Amino acid sequence: REEVKIEKLQKLDQSTLERLVEIYMRGYEGMREYGGEGESYAKRYLHWCWGKARDGFFVAKVGDEIAGFIVCDNDWYSKYEGRTVGAIHEFVVDKKFQGKGIGHKLMKKCLEYLSGKDIELWVGEKNERAKRFYEEYGFREVGKHGIWVRMVRRKR
Ligand code: ACO
Repeated sequence: REEVKIEKLQKLDQSTLERLVEIYMRGYEGMREYGGEGESYAKRYLHWCWGKARDGFFVAKVGDEIAGFIVCDNDWYSKYEGRTVGAIHEFVVDKKFQGKGIGHKLMKKCLEYLSGKDIELWVGEKNERAKRFYEEYGFREVGKHGIWVRMVRRKR
């Protein structure tokens, strides 16, 4: 069984972008409404993430293969909170690597990176598995907008 390493993404080149899109599309399989809008949407969104939060863009690697990623923003203006907070813009593990603890490793890295900040995220209302996962880390549902639920983890 190969070791999992969490690394800061160094550059978003074409092949890395394609791999991240693949993970994103596969990760949300069966949940099209929350992340299956299509590859060109995914590409644009991941570019936006890279531009907005590259210091908090972490990938999990199994050998040389990227297995999942989390995008953590330490400078996000939340219009709902009316101030700047931490945010998780995207968090996904390739379907074939899910359920092996990689998500926990990525979340640990994220909480280190955003330590001392309140953290906001949005998750699909029917995405029970992700909601449960976030609740384990102290995130609580604080609001809703359409099919999206807003969760916040208050700093301790
Ligand atoms: N079905 C249900 N639960 C499972 C499954 C499964 N097939 N496999 C594992 N689990 C449990 C695990 O036992 C574990 O439980 P625990 O917390 O009690 O230990 C938990 O789910 C997940 O643990 P990990 O293996 O560390 O998580 P994983 O590597 O699978 O990553 C993640 C979690 C990122 C939520 C992943 O499931 C995923 O990519 N989902 C699709 C994308 C998604 O929903 N992302 C979050 C959207 S919100 C946002 O991005 C801001």
